[in-house]
Amino acid sequence: MTTILSPIKTKEDLLFEESLRPRTFDEFIGQDNVKENLRIFIEAAKRRDEPLDHVLLYGPPGLGKTSLALLIAREMGVPIKPTSGPIIERPGDLSAILTNLQRKEILFIDEIHRLHPQVEELLYSAMEDYTLDIIIGQGPAARSHKLQLKKFTLIGATTRAGRITPPLRGRFGIIHRLDYYREEDLEKIIKRSASLLRVQIEEEAAKEIAQRSRGTPRVANRLLRRVRDYADVKADGIITRKEAHEALEMMEVDSMGLDEVDRKILQTIIENFRGGPVGIATLAAAIDEEKETIESIYEPFLMRIGFLERTLRGRRVTPRALEHLGYLKTKKGNTSQPKLFD
Ligand SMILES: Nc1ncnc2c1ncn2[C@@H]1O[C@H](COP(=O)(O)OP(=O)(O)OP(=O)(O)O)[C@@H](O)[C@H]1O
Ligand SMILES: [Mg+2]
Repeated sequence: MTTILSPIKTKEDLLFEESLRPRTFDEFIGQDNVKENLRIFIEAAKRRDEPLDHVLLYGPPGLGKTSLALLIAREMGVPIKPTSGPIIERPGDLSAILTNLQRKEILFIDEIHRLHPQVEELLYSAMEDYTLDIIIGQGPAARSHKLQLKKFTLIGATTRAGRITPPLRGRFGIIHRLDYYREEDLEKIIKRSASLLRVQIEEEAAKEIAQRSRGTPRVANRLLRRVRDYADVKADGIITRKEAHEALEMMEVDSMGLDEVDRKILQTIIENFRGGPVGIATLAAAIDEEKETIESIYEPFLMRIGFLERTLRGRRVTPRALEHLGYLKTKKGNTSQPKLFD
């Protein structure tokens, strides 16, 4: 399900994302810790004239994993070959890719948690000592050959860190988790994107959009494009706070950045499970989503904004969430109690 607030990329995002991607580390806003670390590793590798250690980037969709991979290649001054887990169907496909890599070249495998097990196994020795075990011939005549590869760098990206097998994870020297962006960073991203899209935006308008972007640059950029359309039609093209607000209200963009799935999760816990606690598997079945998707994409955001709590017995919604969704009946002079529980 994709809605205007979904962090998952749409076809339309793809059209714009190339032009909005940060081109240098300085343009890559926020994630200071990740950036600082990568800068040091890159600098060190360059001084030694060695390839960068293998890098694993994980975190919810739309936070900049692909952008960072491209940036690393740019800063290293090396080519990057992008591919993705499910595309590499057979071990032979991976062998072909690996044997064609140049020294220091970067192989970027997006959705690395979706590699076929046999393909993944082949990666182990390739990552560890740059060798490839290939079998030549069949049956009793089959011989195993060790092929020497050039020293390359693998960058893996995933939204599902929990699905990376320990042997694969253990072969990455640099592992970073991207986290949701602070509002002031999203504001900067929005202003930068606005200037690339050649629209003028007021400070307050950028703030208005940032607040509803669920900590996610992809969502921020998408909302900016929508608001721009509105301002183009309704005003002289300059996005003021008023227009931003009106446009977002008109599109019924949630003031906390909740999307359909977030709402469904919360509403189901409230209505079917009396607010929780409810086990993640039960919840997943009730809303017909994958457990993994809830755990890696939706739950982190809901916990971050204080709408969901994890307890030993399962997930529970908080009074804040009840209030936001309009479940709290407030009587004057009385502490508010959830409607459900009285
Ligand atoms: N730190 C940042 N500064 C500026 N823009 C950013 C930043 N991070 C992401 N963006 C913007 O958000 C868009 C989405 O980022 P990106 O494609 O790198 O996310 P992702 O983590 O790879 O997502 P997915 O998990 O869906 O592949 C980019 O095109 C870029 O315009
Ligand atoms: Mg990506």
